[in-house]
Amino acid sequence: MKLIAYSPEHSKKVIKLFTDVFSDSEGQEEGQVIGQLVRELIATTDSNDLLGYVSISDGRIAACIFFSRLILPSGKIAFILSPVAVASLQQGKGLGQQLIKFGIQELRSHGVELVFTYGDPDFYSKIGFVKISEDVVKAPQKLTYPDGWLAQTLKNEAIATEVGLTKCVGALNKQEYW
Ligand SMILES: CC(C)(COP(=O)(O)OP(=O)(O)OC[C@H]1O[C@@H](n2cnc3c(N)ncnc32)[C@H](O)[C@@H]1OP(=O)(O)O)[C@@H](O)C(=O)NCCC(=O)NCCS
Repeated sequence: MKLIAYSPEHSKKVIKLFTDVFSDSEGQEEGQVIGQLVRELIATTDSNDLLGYVSISDGRIAACIFFSRLILPSGKIAFILSPVAVASLQQGKGLGQQLIKFGIQELRSHGVELVFTYGDPDFYSKIGFVKISEDVVKAPQKLTYPDGWLAQTLKNEAIATEVGLTKCVGALNKQEYW
């Protein structure tokens, strides 16, 4: 198992991985939606605003994760984790948590101060995320499930209130994802 930074040579396989994994877990339509999200993230996000990592096992991409920049009113450096996928046959073996922890460690070395995500609190609490109120940090779009708005600080300090709106990258900035 090798964990490395995403590079454009992985793009086709990574888009297929997300499409297949989300088709298996959420249905074909959702698979297409997430495949398209990843295609757009890769194609339209400035390289300074997108960090991706892949997990390679037996020469194949077994898992992939992307983090994209979230602009905060305070100017603190923040990224959103979205999306992440582990190949369907490889799930439940710890790969997902390993890749997320690796990605967060990499973010830390890039000077990132806060990481956000929008997902299942039961899963993400295993890797350090806690629920965060929008009174503290607003999500970039209206949330369908406010309980899924999660964050973790990469500094040894509490998450301070951000006064004002936040802005995510264009590919994520669509109400259907929130
Ligand atoms: C979610 C996902 C990335 C987790 O990766 P994984 O390698 O399967 O998970 P791990 O083996 O590292 O962790 C397993 C733990 O997470 C829990 N878990 C796994 N997927 C979960 C999910 N979708 N919701 C809640 N909990 C989940 C398991 O119950 C397990 O808990 P345990 O360790 O207490 O038994 C992977 O299952 C996946 O790609 N799922 C489909 C796509 C998806 O839902 N992506 C996340 C949203 S962007």
